[in-house]
Amino acid sequence: MAKGKFITIEGVEGVGKSTNIDAIKKYLDSKNIPFIVTREPGGTLLAEKIRELLLKIDDDSPVELCELLLVFAARAQHLEKVISPALANGDWVICDRFTDATYAYQGGGRGLDVSVIAELETMVQGSLRPDLTIILDLDPETGLSRAKNRGELDRFENEQKEFFEKVRAMYLNIAEQQPDRCAVIDAGNDIEQVSAAILSEITRRLSVES
Ligand SMILES: Nc1ncnc2c1ncn2[C@@H]1O[C@H](COP(=O)(O)OP(=O)(O)O)[C@@H](O)[C@H]1O
Ligand SMILES: [Mg+2]
Repeated sequence: MAKGKFITIEGVEGVGKSTNIDAIKKYLDSKNIPFIVTREPGGTLLAEKIRELLLKIDDDSPVELCELLLVFAARAQHLEKVISPALANGDWVICDRFTDATYAYQGGGRGLDVSVIAELETMVQGSLRPDLTIILDLDPETGLSRAKNRGELDRFENEQKEFFEKVRAMYLNIAEQQPDRCAVIDAGNDIEQVSAAILSEITRRLSVES
């Protein structure tokens, strides 16, 4: 059986990842492509517990290295329990954030050594990389103001503008380095335009029959 395709959706808070995943789901259904939708950090019972630890605000916030290791601990669980079996079964996997978020947030935002992230990536993923990564690009202020309408802010959403500027810059840097895997989409346009651009990248890059 052919392996499923692995698509990841990236971008700072409020760029429209969840919104556009809904459009991707409808699209894949219309093509009769079997898929699962999942997210990081999270995607399994244990990994979702790690997510809670990462996002909550309390008196013992994870130090930077702890944060990085927790992200990869959750990813190891998620990969072995959910992502790899689905791909092996021929299902496509749509994942709301993946390792590019680690490069962007822990590498770009926090300033952790990118080569350490790369080592952990190899340790946890081996050679597995997404087939396509959609990077939704938006001025972080606009994204955050969209996200704020959702309610209380988590530990990341509480970061300053400068943090998100660095996150955004790292995403764009990754896209520049790996243009075959990454598609940057302007998330400042209308929802319909953004969704159409994403679906067109999926169709073209992953050779979906129309
Ligand atoms: N292109 C867009 N233009 C205007 N508002 C948008 C757009 N995309 C998403 N939104 C709105 O912004 C908010 C955050 O979107 P969401 O998909 O939850 O972002 P994310 O999952 O990336 O944090 C939602 O209220 C959503 O309806
Ligand atoms: Mg979301």
